[in-house]
Amino acid sequence: MSFPQHRPRRLRATNALRRMTSEYRLAPAELILPAFIREGLSGPLAISSMPGVVQHSTESLKRAAVQAVESGVGGIMLFGVPATRDATGSASLDPEGVLNKAIRDVRTEVGDDLVVMSDLCLDEFTDHGHCGVLNASGGVDNDATLEIYADMAVAQARAGAQVLAPSGMMDGQVGVIRQALDAAGFQERSVLAYAAKYASAFYGPFREAVDSQLSGDRRTYQMDPGNRREALLEVELDLAEGADMVMVKPAMSYLDILADVAAMSPVPVSAYQVSGEYAMIEAAAANGWIDRRRAIEESVLSIKRAGASMVLTYWATELAGWLKNP
Ligand code: PBG
Repeated sequence: MSFPQHRPRRLRATNALRRMTSEYRLAPAELILPAFIREGLSGPLAISSMPGVVQHSTESLKRAAVQAVESGVGGIMLFGVPATRDATGSASLDPEGVLNKAIRDVRTEVGDDLVVMSDLCLDEFTDHGHCGVLNASGGVDNDATLEIYADMAVAQARAGAQVLAPSGMMDGQVGVIRQALDAAGFQERSVLAYAAKYASAFYGPFREAVDSQLSGDRRTYQMDPGNRREALLEVELDLAEGADMVMVKPAMSYLDILADVAAMSPVPVSAYQVSGEYAMIEAAAANGWIDRRRAIEESVLSIKRAGASMVLTYWATELAGWLKNP
């Protein structure tokens, strides 16, 4: 016997061998593009902390949706930035409000060629920037918020959203949304639960993306980054309440959580590569410190390898284009 007996390098010798033996590969259909639409814009507006990402106008959003379809992207997740905000986020319920209108416009544009999903949360719509309404002492009132989420779900479903994505981390949110949808005749619409969503510094650039008014933080409702087991409880609760899909968020700093969830979840698992993850790679690439395309591909692949069936990423369309024409 010659030494060494096992030579893993044999299978790395050519591109054909590497390709044939590769365990994980990405496909455009499992990518979801998060997109922002801002009320009153006549053209797209750059988001400085997310180079390459914009706040869309109606027209530019429709174009982005069509490009996503052409690249084979699986879905689009819509976030609205309203012109006016109030304490209860009432613009979120208005059928002509920025998000509900965008859902309708995109659905009309792409039909069933792209899964149209909507962020179901109040933070973009409240003047205080929290994901729910406040009680007398300034805390986020869980159960009062749930009542609004139920109405938001129905408004978004009426506008044409196929997947509702509650991201506010209120206890019981999936259950009330499911009940409200069913009662309004939307039994066929699904719920993608932001199940394990952490109070993360990596949401930083998102604040600019939605012109958030938040002062303070979300630690009383989003999860503590130090907790691992608790993610499984959050997923179990959401499944019991009727979640059709679950999400772990952020992605890259939470791949252990993602692997845990993927191991126990009987429903599809997604992960959200958030604004700060995007900004880090773009900033390093802009400085010439990393190879942009390789870093993007590797980062999204790592999220898939950890267990995600679907990845929300701001690079969805560009990455899908690369995957189609390697
Ligand atoms: C809340 C929401 C946030 C993000 C998605 N949905 C912000 C937050 O929870 O503070 C962050 C997404 C990102 O950073 O890319 N509606």
